[in-house]
Amino acid sequence: MDVSRFPLIPGKIPPIITHGEGVWLHTSNGNKVLDAGGGAIVTNIGHGRKEIAEVAASALRKLDYVVPTFATEARIQLVEEVADNWLPDASWRCVFNSGGSESVDAAIRIAQLHHVACGRTERYKVIGRDVSYHGATLGALAVGSHDRRRKGLESALAAMPKTSYEDAEQLEKVIEIEGANTISAFIGEPVIGAAAGAYVAPEGYWQTISDICQRHDILLIADEVMTGFGRLGATMGHQLFEFTPDIIVSGKGLGGGYAPMGGVYTRPDVVAPIAETDLALMFYTFAGQDLGCAVSKKVLQIMREENLVAQAFEMGALLRARLVEEFQDHPNVSDIRGAGLMHGIGLVADRNSGRAFPRSAGFAEQVSAASFEAGVWVYPAGSGVFDDALLFGPPFIVSDSHIDQMVTTASRAIDLISNRI
Ligand SMILES: Cc1ncc(COP(=O)(O)O)c(C=O)c1O
Repeated sequence: MDVSRFPLIPGKIPPIITHGEGVWLHTSNGNKVLDAGGGAIVTNIGHGRKEIAEVAASALRKLDYVVPTFATEARIQLVEEVADNWLPDASWRCVFNSGGSESVDAAIRIAQLHHVACGRTERYKVIGRDVSYHGATLGALAVGSHDRRRKGLESALAAMPKTSYEDAEQLEKVIEIEGANTISAFIGEPVIGAAAGAYVAPEGYWQTISDICQRHDILLIADEVMTGFGRLGATMGHQLFEFTPDIIVSGKGLGGGYAPMGGVYTRPDVVAPIAETDLALMFYTFAGQDLGCAVSKKVLQIMREENLVAQAFEMGALLRARLVEEFQDHPNVSDIRGAGLMHGIGLVADRNSGRAFPRSAGFAEQVSAASFEAGVWVYPAGSGVFDDALLFGPPFIVSDSHIDQMVTTASRAIDLISNRI
């Protein structure tokens, strides 16, 4: 296999992964790597489940493609699975796409069309949080603020207002400056993932955000692409923070890594006004493709049958305890944050002064690479004030010895790279 031709932009030669099994990834040179990042916080039921392969094969034998506006058995069944078991209420409406970014874009369109259908035609802005990541399409990058992922593209991105990731009251001021009559929605991650390495907002943050949004007729979009479907040890992430969004976006864990899937879910009264007009919510060609719907339904069924959300809660507590034990006094770790099986550590040059490593050092990336060499994959995360973080998000079937191995290996990798720098 000629791997040198693989990356679009020539650069570092990546490892070749041949297959996966449980919490393990196997490489072409015969090594076994513990998937402590669940890929990119995707894998929940573990790798290599034969029953999913069988569902996929039988879905493909039955049906390949039909336009997203037609109903199929797999589509209907996935709507039922998600609405009945995972959403705030069974009456919620669902649409399935091929990933998180697409779904964020669809949610932004739904929010604006809702207001236009209600006669509020000037509401086009979506307020995001300054530090956040919502995906890589131009719309998703515009509402997010992951500085390195926006770099070089700024001039192509719509200027969307941003508010604090930690001070909920700031939202009121941003609305006053922008004018409530120009704003369709607020978007936020219940726990900030790629941009902040599992940052959890202060107590009361989400209730305040929710109150302010309601007062100004602004729709609250919870981006649950990382936090949804059990990752935080709760059915959906927002439940931990005791607020109910108007629109929920999902991706990653919906297909568990077995199918490229995303979804947008909303209360019926958000989409009902659109149905009264000639406004159209254009679909993506591969929205709710049968193969993905059948696979996702099986993934979610397995999670319920094997009580994997409760397991994510329990193993999340163990992961946190082990991270605290290993890193609470570590000179290169600023803090430990997160919930359930989505935890992060902040990496710094000096814990006491809070001094960061220079960005050019790429500390988190180097630590992640060293950890991979030593048999554990952890996701390098962070941007802006959270630059340099490691994100742990293993499959929910992880055991205590796996947790010990991932934390010990990451710790050694931090020591190795900090000594080298
Ligand atoms: C919170 C959040 N939203 C959206 C996305 C984009 O999802 P995708 O990469 O599937 O397009 C991501 C990806 O990391 C994410 O973490």
